[in-house]
Amino acid sequence: MICLARSWLEKGIAVDVKQQSSQPLEIYDRHVFSQSRVYRAHAVNHLAYGVSSTPRATQMPFPVVVDRAEGVHITDVDGNTYLDYGLGYGPLLLGHTPKPVLEALQHELSKGLRTASIHRGEARLADLIAELVPSGAQSAFVSSGSEAIQLALRIARAATGRNTIAKFRANYHGWFDNLHVANTIGNDGAATIGQDPDASQSVVLFDWGCVDGLADRLDTRFAAVIVEPAAINAGCFGPPDGFLQALRDITSRLGIVLIFDEVITGFRLALGGAQQRYGVTPDLSVLGKALGAGLPIGAVSGHREVMQVIASGRLLHRGTFNGNPVSIGAGIACLETLKAEQATLYPRIDRIGSAIAVHVNAEAKAHGAPIFAQNVGPCVQLFAGVTHMDGMAGLPKIDRSLILCLTSKLLQQGIYTLPRGLMYVSSVHTDDDLAFTKQAISTAIDHFMQGLHANR
Ligand SMILES: Cc1ncc(COP(=O)(O)O)c(C=O)c1O
Repeated sequence: MICLARSWLEKGIAVDVKQQSSQPLEIYDRHVFSQSRVYRAHAVNHLAYGVSSTPRATQMPFPVVVDRAEGVHITDVDGNTYLDYGLGYGPLLLGHTPKPVLEALQHELSKGLRTASIHRGEARLADLIAELVPSGAQSAFVSSGSEAIQLALRIARAATGRNTIAKFRANYHGWFDNLHVANTIGNDGAATIGQDPDASQSVVLFDWGCVDGLADRLDTRFAAVIVEPAAINAGCFGPPDGFLQALRDITSRLGIVLIFDEVITGFRLALGGAQQRYGVTPDLSVLGKALGAGLPIGAVSGHREVMQVIASGRLLHRGTFNGNPVSIGAGIACLETLKAEQATLYPRIDRIGSAIAVHVNAEAKAHGAPIFAQNVGPCVQLFAGVTHMDGMAGLPKIDRSLILCLTSKLLQQGIYTLPRGLMYVSSVHTDDDLAFTKQAISTAIDHFMQGLHANR
């Protein structure tokens, strides 16, 4: 078994498309990807890099082309079926085909597209957010998480009359130049070529989870502190005790707007998001992903005092597709479903997330495998190259190419994770799915170790 990811990753995230599409089929354990290979060979002609978001090309042993999905299963163009823990990069908290959401979409479509018009759904969704999210008294809608982040920064600057923004290392806040920096530990710079180096001049970096020094370095130049309250993108780290409260106390004292980026954690770690789970309420929350149940949406939701700059009409909030009825309809159906099912849904997805992490660690230990998993509720991160993780300081020790090998082995066992080892549990994963997952994890780790030994 050859681990191909290493040579690819040595070149950075970019995978050599020609090399990838000419790999011999022998390396694939179980699934054949012939139609995905045909698609990819064609797609790269006119579709830049053959994907619409660069990380999608990193999937191993091959980026599968999805044909259809139902519940929590996806089927690719070769007819392979996978139990999905990628959930469309997170939005599909209710799975791929939630009945109330599909019905709401059909209802909206039957009334025409009405894009960029005012309609009744927008206020209804804002009402629901105000009811469910502690900081959510008033909302403004956009079409993605990245856009919502930018709107939140603009609101914070307008509300304070200040400019400087505090960002934490290894937190991800979307792909726009100003905050697309310090996304990984060890690189405080831009995440990609082509970014404007001046765009992040007003951004000051801090270490996530560290309270020491925060009070000394934050002052009245700062408009906002933006933070992932649970650092899911870095590898599913829950906030250390007292961290979020310290942020709350210091920002309140200095008149700085505290922004929780709840694009992943919103409606997922609890109905009211991470702020409900950890009991700390920010001034502004950025929402996205699960809010739209699979449709594109983003929102900034905040206290009235801070939102006043936008509520008064003084701050320009623009966007052709903002508040489009289809995404809003999906959002309403999604939040109403979550509200109705909350009593059983949240304990179940937390339990399944924990059970997966526990099983990975038990199997890793039994096989002597350099694999470790940790979870924050229904978000599970698989690491390779390490056997434990002591906070973010441990991140430089992980082997990202080995994670691709591990997720490749899982894919071959019918488990679809995000290539970088992140797994999301949905409301429609069952205990039978968990049993299947555990079995697949055991086999995948076994195959992973065989590959590792064969490569030595
Ligand atoms: C925490 C966080 N913030 C913001 C974003 C950007 O959201 P979008 O991809 O919808 O632009 C993401 C996307 O993964 C995210 O994880």
